[in-house]
Amino acid sequence: MPQLATAGRRVRGFLSDAPIPGKHVIATRPLAANGDAMRSARRKTALVTGATGGIGSAFADRLARDGFDLVLTDRVASSLEEAAASLEQAHGVQVQRWRADLVDPADVHGLVGRIRSGTVPDMLVNVAGFGTNQPFEENDLEVHLRMIQVHISACVSLTWAALPGMIARGSGDIINIGSLASFLPVNRDVNYAATKSYVVAFSEQLQPHLRGTGVHVLAVCPGLTRTGFHDTREFGGLGETRPFERMWSTPEDVADRSLRALRRKKVIYTPGVINTLVRWVGSSHIVRWLGRRVFTVRGRASS
Ligand SMILES: NC(=O)c1ccc[n+]([C@@H]2O[C@H](COP(=O)([O-])OP(=O)(O)OC[C@H]3O[C@@H](n4cnc5c(N)ncnc54)[C@H](OP(=O)(O)O)[C@@H]3O)[C@@H](O)[C@H]2O)c1
Repeated sequence: MPQLATAGRRVRGFLSDAPIPGKHVIATRPLAANGDAMRSARRKTALVTGATGGIGSAFADRLARDGFDLVLTDRVASSLEEAAASLEQAHGVQVQRWRADLVDPADVHGLVGRIRSGTVPDMLVNVAGFGTNQPFEENDLEVHLRMIQVHISACVSLTWAALPGMIARGSGDIINIGSLASFLPVNRDVNYAATKSYVVAFSEQLQPHLRGTGVHVLAVCPGLTRTGFHDTREFGGLGETRPFERMWSTPEDVADRSLRALRRKKVIYTPGVINTLVRWVGSSHIVRWLGRRVFTVRGRASS
């Protein structure tokens, strides 16, 4: 099994010698003397989850255009194959296909194992996600738990898997896709907003912890974006009618702006001026207080 070398620097409690249960052992030893020369010859690789969807696909395309080889992961093998083949043809990059359903802990462990046993990306983009649009208590518990698995557990697992190798290399970027919803009072899909709040909080807590390692973490919080996200029965055609058209970004715009924000070493980023304003207003105490009052009325009316 290939061994990952680390630069010998321990980042407060994060690098662990403990193996993944029953699977992969990570050795901690200094880089080989010729490591720098080997690194400069190596092509960079980006791992993108949710890679066949709107925002993930836009990231994959932009990164391939920038010369990254790719590791794409998504749950439907045929879509993955189609996306990968098209990127290989368009940009002449190498694309690995890692099929995984991020709801399934075994699949997530499989990805963790592949990263820890050698395929450490230079950039990890955690995009996969889904939304629902029902009052919390009326939705199936299973749906809420699946959302926690995809938005939180998979993001934390892949980040954990990639970090030791990135730190050893002295460079790496992690982009976690949150949502503008995490800054706003919502009264229907509260679990969606809450899981995305976790993604933002996790990224914000992690970044200072990694200072000096060469690894950077960015949480991106898009507003309404023209993808397949709203094309479900629950959203009642929102994806087609797109009210307030000017507020909807394209996935390409989200990817472009996010990669620019990454270069500027932002930690939390909301693409678009209007969305940024909405985020600042939505985060204010007065709006959060108002949100709590408004949603209390709904509770009273139904009691
Ligand atoms: N669109 C928006 O307005 C908006 C706004 C803010 C944040 N976001 C966030 O942006 C991210 C990307 O969404 P999008 O707008 O690009 O929507 P999308 O077009 O529906 O893409 C979502 C991607 O995630 C994948 N995915 C979902 N569940 C998965 C699972 N269990 N295992 C593996 N892959 C899974 C989907 O695969 P399948 O095709 O197989 O389902 C798809 O490739 C999400 O995290 C979303 O919360 C979107």
